[in-house]
Amino acid sequence: MIVLVGYATEHGSTREIAQRIGSGLRAAGVDAHVRSLTDVGDVRGYGAFVVGSAVHDRSWLDTGREFVRRDLARTRSRPVWLFSVGMPDALRGPWRRLAATEASAIEADLAAPFPVRGHRLFSGVVGPEHLSRAGRLVFRLMGGRYGDHRDEGAIDAWAASIAEELGHR
Ligand SMILES: Cc1cc2nc3c(=O)[nH]c(=O)nc-3n(C[C@H](O)[C@H](O)[C@H](O)COP(=O)(O)O)c2cc1C
Repeated sequence: MIVLVGYATEHGSTREIAQRIGSGLRAAGVDAHVRSLTDVGDVRGYGAFVVGSAVHDRSWLDTGREFVRRDLARTRSRPVWLFSVGMPDALRGPWRRLAATEASAIEADLAAPFPVRGHRLFSGVVGPEHLSRAGRLVFRLMGGRYGDHRDEGAIDAWAASIAEELGHR
């Protein structure tokens, strides 16, 4: 069985998280293929899906939303895990708590027409060059810290738990 690890990214950190999940799955003996969602053709060749997107304005990128609603909806009985890449760990205090609750807003927006085995919100990379001038101002007012906020241990542990659910240890 081939597992698709698919991603939608704007600036690359979601792709690197997908690659890390793919490496973790393969290390546990899972045949995982990492692909940009823009390059995934027919989904029928995959037995399970781990699909993620960068978060913009508390939603997935359009490519990711369309993939969930159109392509994954066709594979109803196969296991699906979702991951979102936002910036809770770049923020402080109430903003951090608000961003950490984003997962449920994302799930409501995606409205996946099938059961999801799990959904994780990871922090990614935030650089000033990614934001508009207004965005940089808001980020500064929120006490945001630019940088790479990815937690490799949390990503590896999640990949290992998926491998285990798929019957690999
Ligand atoms: C225009 C813009 C809007 C964003 N909106 C959110 C948001 O609403 N919530 C959040 O947690 N992160 C938000 N982020 C942060 C990104 O999700 C984060 O930087 C992520 O690592 C980007 O992934 P990528 O490198 O794969 O594009 C935003 C970033 C940009 C550039």
